[in-house]
Amino acid sequence: MRVHVADHPLITHKLTVLRDRTTHSPVFRALTEELVTLLAYEATRNVRTETVDIETPVTSTTGLAISQPRPLVVPILRAGLGMLEGMVKLLPTAEVGFLGMVRNEETLEPTTYAERLPDDLSDRQCFVLDPMLATGGSLGAAIEFLFDRGAVDVTAICLLAAPEGIAALEKATEGRDVTIVLGAMDERLDENGYIVPGLGDAGDRLYGLV
Ligand code: PRP
Ligand code: URA
Repeated sequence: MRVHVADHPLITHKLTVLRDRTTHSPVFRALTEELVTLLAYEATRNVRTETVDIETPVTSTTGLAISQPRPLVVPILRAGLGMLEGMVKLLPTAEVGFLGMVRNEETLEPTTYAERLPDDLSDRQCFVLDPMLATGGSLGAAIEFLFDRGAVDVTAICLLAAPEGIAALEKATEGRDVTIVLGAMDERLDENGYIVPGLGDAGDRLYGLV
């Protein structure tokens, strides 16, 4: 598993505003979208391309185009939905599948409550969106789901992660082609499984309390 932590002042600035408890949902949503677009630039560095012949107004030449099958973007509901627009802005030809997961706040175990994905993901490059990688349970289950359907490689974009979750994911995805692109690696998990310093509950901050 490869882990890439973005190191850019714009990303750190936007994350700082996002973390601030006084930042309300409309700004939180806009910043999430902007951050994902910045992280998507890094996450798509190895997107598969093929050579194409084109005519410019001046001459014939060759260029690169994103190859078939199209990449699949998978936001993990609910909070990952807040990352979708920022991703498809950069990768407009991608297909989008959905996974609904919720973590039991007592046991910290994730359950899947919705799934709308192609049955066969053979040869597909997948990009998973989930803002928070805490224990790694939700992302680990999502990644396993995609590999079980035949995905060849999975890149996850997360705004924040805890070292404990990264370590758990490393074990769970051993031997798989997995890349994690992060806005920041935080310090630790607290006793309730929240990322410290973190930003609180990403789903609630995007969409309100449920
Ligand atoms: C949050 C977050 C991740 C998960 C991370 O979702 O968006 O999916 O928790 O925690 P983990 O790494 O310990 O699994 P949550 O279950 O709160 O659902 P929501 O997106 O509907 O708010
Ligand atoms: N899920 C969140 O939304 N925030 C955390 O800090 C941990 C899990």
